[in-house]
Amino acid sequence: MTEAILLVGGKGTRLRPLTVRTPKPMVPAAGVPFLTHQLARARAAGVEHVVLATSYLAEVFEPYFGDGSALGLRLEYVTEREPLGTGGAIRNVAERLTSGPDEPVLIFNGDILTGLDIAGLVRTHVDTGAEVTLHLTRVEDPRAFGLVPTAADGRVTAFLEKPQTPEEIVTDQINAGAYVFNRSVIEAIPVGRPVSVERETFPGLLASGAHLQGVVDSTYWLDLGTPQAFVRGSADLVLGRAPSPAVPGRAGEHLVLEGADVAVDAKLSGGTCVAARAVVAAGARVDGSLVLEGSVIEAGAMVRNSLIGAGARVGAHCVLDGAVIGDGAVVGPDNELRHGIRVWCGATLAPASVRFSSDQ
Ligand code: GDD
Ligand code: MG
Repeated sequence: MTEAILLVGGKGTRLRPLTVRTPKPMVPAAGVPFLTHQLARARAAGVEHVVLATSYLAEVFEPYFGDGSALGLRLEYVTEREPLGTGGAIRNVAERLTSGPDEPVLIFNGDILTGLDIAGLVRTHVDTGAEVTLHLTRVEDPRAFGLVPTAADGRVTAFLEKPQTPEEIVTDQINAGAYVFNRSVIEAIPVGRPVSVERETFPGLLASGAHLQGVVDSTYWLDLGTPQAFVRGSADLVLGRAPSPAVPGRAGEHLVLEGADVAVDAKLSGGTCVAARAVVAAGARVDGSLVLEGSVIEAGAMVRNSLIGAGARVGAHCVLDGAVIGDGAVVGPDNELRHGIRVWCGATLAPASVRFSSDQ
């Protein structure tokens, strides 16, 4: 069966401070490092061999996933000395592939949560005889993505990464971060220098007349590149809206991992996940949030759509909505944190020191 490359070397800057100590694919979503969901979905689609292209904080992947046998996979790791960009990363792992020159190889961005029919994407690739096939999805605001207009037969006509001007916004179809490449196309990427697959390889292939095929669908799709998206993705996994065989529990309003301590009158809802050794105290309400290992939510706090980092503490009667609390940070009692506020790892907020409203 088809082998796969996973691109997991990005710095995850938009997710800071979550990614200060942990690379984006290793930040837990619904109880396990996010990458586990992608690996489990690939395995379920029949993939047996995966090469991880690592760069930023590369050393943490192998100790966790090892040879991949726990997931039924054969996993290999290749680390770039300097970040090589998406295309350079793909080229850099080529020697680990076992496929023949005309055989298809799957490539995934490492921060996408999706219900994509992986085997179906490979089938379309083989059936259409394309050199590259791209999964596409439609979004309301495509500006933060790669725009991929297609002809009536699905053939890609242009590739516009992160359009800068209104004239460039020619479609709402975007690159969804999953590709099938013929092995020979991978070998043709230049060696030993940074290459962007989106800005260089795809436009170059189109200019040379290569056949790039797009597959548009309306399955679940989310790029977990921002804290709000990450929290949303985790909640959707817990609720069962986003499919993954790797969620450690049944779908429902909340997922409480073994060793967590949740008070009987605390209320968890909206796909909240409470990790091992985390504490949610009496009367606290936690909705649509991600509470990481060993963190504490004190009595009467109200937490919505927020991410509480490992070992962090949210004081009594705090109100959080759309907040990110870095690992080990301490938010004193009676603070009000909203609108995407980011509290850095290890920071301390004195009691009642931040409010977004004038009421007490
Ligand atoms: N190994 C390695 N080395 N991986 C990298 C590098 C690198 O130098 N740079 C980025 N990556 C990985 C990231 O870890 C991520 O998994 C993937 O490549 C894409 O990088 P992002 O930084 O997440 O890109 P983006 O979200 O802005 O845009 C990409 O994804 C969109 C869909 O979510 C592009 O592919 C867009 O065209 C696409 O629409
Ligand atoms: Mg991304």
